[in-house]
Amino acid sequence: MGYPATEFVRQFRTAVVPAAGLGTRFLPATKAVPKELLPIVDTPGVELVAQEAAAAGAERLVLVTAPGKESLAAYFAESRELEQTLVERGKTALLAKVRHAPNLLTVRTVLQQRPLGLGHAVLQAEQALDPDEISVAVLLPDDLVLPCGVLDAMSRVRRRYGGSVLCAFDVPRAEVGAYGVFDVAPADGDPNVLRVNGMVEKPAPADAPSTYAAAGRYLLDRAVFDALRAIGPGAGGELQLTDAIALLIAQGHPVHVVVHRGTRHDLGNPGGYLRAAVDFALNRTEYAAGLRVWLLDRLGVDDVRHSGAA
Ligand code: G1P
Repeated sequence: MGYPATEFVRQFRTAVVPAAGLGTRFLPATKAVPKELLPIVDTPGVELVAQEAAAAGAERLVLVTAPGKESLAAYFAESRELEQTLVERGKTALLAKVRHAPNLLTVRTVLQQRPLGLGHAVLQAEQALDPDEISVAVLLPDDLVLPCGVLDAMSRVRRRYGGSVLCAFDVPRAEVGAYGVFDVAPADGDPNVLRVNGMVEKPAPADAPSTYAAAGRYLLDRAVFDALRAIGPGAGGELQLTDAIALLIAQGHPVHVVVHRGTRHDLGNPGGYLRAAVDFALNRTEYAAGLRVWLLDRLGVDDVRHSGAA
C-alpha cells in the first residue's frame, strides 16, 4: 500500500526522536555504538527516521539522547575533513551520502539524564520548542514504517479533527503485550481512520481492548506535555507516553489513529533489525542479485524465478 501524494498539510515543525535508551538487546555492540547508529545496509536507522521526518515537512529534529551517546549528535554534524578527502579523491557519490544527514534538517539534542521512560524522554523535548508550536511529531527510531508517508496521512487527520493523531497497525493478539494498544471506534467511514476512546500500555492479550497497536509515529497536541507532568509511573515503573495520551482522551481531547497497512520493521531487537537489513539490501541494485542467490542457497530453496518451474 502506498500513501497518495496530496497538497502540503504539515501540522508540525519539530520532530522529536527519543534515542536515550541503553540498547540492552544489542549488547555488547551498544557498549560503544548507540543502537540508533547501527546501519541498515549502510545507513543508520536514525537517518532513515530523520529523512522520513524531513520528507513530512519537519524543519527541526530534537534528538533526546543520554550521557555517553554523543556520537548521535556527531553523526548529524558536518565532517569537514572527511568531506575534503572525498572531494580530493573525486568520490562524489560517497560525498553526497556523507552530506545527506547534516543537510536534512536542523538537529538539536536534549539530554535525558536518567532512563525514566519514553514519556519522560518526550517531556525533555518541550524546552526545544518555540512558544507558538501547538503540536509536535514524535518518531520512535526503533520503528521503520514503510512505505513512508504515514505522517502526511496523520497530518490530514489532525487538520480535520484537531487534537492528536497516532499510527496503528494490526498485530496478532498474542503480541499485543509488547505495545501500546488502542480502544477504537469508527470515525467517518474511512476504515483506516479510527477514533480512539482509550489506550493501554502493554496489556495482557486477554485484557487488550483491540489488536491495534501503536507503531511509533505520533502527532501530538502540545497539551501532551501537561499530561506527561500529571501522570505517575506506569508499566515497567516508567513514565509512559501511552498514559499521557490516555489522560488526554479522558480530558476530552480528540485522539485518532491512522491504521498503517504496509510494512513495519522493529529495529529494537536483533531479529527485527536483521529483517530490515535484508529487506533494504534486496532493494539495492548493488546487493540484491547476489544476496538473493545466496539466501536461496542457504535456505535450500530452488529459485523458481530462474528454474522455469513456476
Ligand atoms: C514503545 C511504546 C509503545 C509502542 C511501541 C512501538 O514501546 O511505549 O506504546 O507500541 O514503542 O514500537 P517500547 O517498544 O519502547 O517498549
